[in-house]
Amino acid sequence: MVYNLHLMYPITEKQILREDYLLIKLRASHLKHAKAGQYAIVQYTELSEPLPLSILDVEGEEATFLIKVVGRSTLELKEEAESVFYVAGPLGIPFPAKHYGKVVFFTKDWGVSPAINIANHLRKENNRLELYHMSEDGFLPLKERLESVFDKVEILEKVIQVNADLLVSAGSNRLSREVELINRGTKHIAMVNTHILDGVGLCLVCRVLVDGNLRLACTDGPWFPADKVDWENLIGREDLFLEQEKLALEEYKKILKRKELRKTSAEV
Ligand code: FES
Repeated sequence: MVYNLHLMYPITEKQILREDYLLIKLRASHLKHAKAGQYAIVQYTELSEPLPLSILDVEGEEATFLIKVVGRSTLELKEEAESVFYVAGPLGIPFPAKHYGKVVFFTKDWGVSPAINIANHLRKENNRLELYHMSEDGFLPLKERLESVFDKVEILEKVIQVNADLLVSAGSNRLSREVELINRGTKHIAMVNTHILDGVGLCLVCRVLVDGNLRLACTDGPWFPADKVDWENLIGREDLFLEQEKLALEEYKKILKRKELRKTSAEV
């Protein structure tokens, strides 16, 4: 793991997939050693919120990230960023990529990003790979890439019971809790979704109860055995941030609107 402070990392490509999804390529050569399922912390400006982002893939000096626009910091990346102030990583304990047999993924939102990353590693270990993506409006980000790496890809509205040697879930704590409830008894590795600030185990904001013990998503995770995670505790704590995030997003939208108005009046 390498920390590079006070450098600017250029965004070499930005692709808007839909109003609320974008793909960015960042030049950050220290991510080149990323292993299966690791993440990076990306911060647009010194004052922006640090975002833990799953690494989709790394080619040479460039790392790609799929971002769902859900709050101020992700909207800043979409609307304004041409480079970012801070990139730390690769972070987290790598996903155990080995032969399991049939591996079934359940994903939601940006969860397809770590799924593609891990699937690329699991393919080399001769696993059969299937993916079910939960979507209410039928949108599947990175559909073609998913179909090129998974043997089967399907969109679902509800979690189903499946036969598998391993289940993997990513993109939502509520989804992981449901996959575990419906498929209890099947080995299941889930990515916990928490706020992350320092990424080195100092602030404790990312704490998770696993088998009754305090663990840190940033350094012990983000992958944990789903049957051991206290999902109720985690979901309850993450929900506490929702109101604050909503206010920050509304405030930023007003700033964007004022900028737009200034631009228009300067043009008239
Ligand atoms: S992000 Fe601070 S302890 Fe994990």
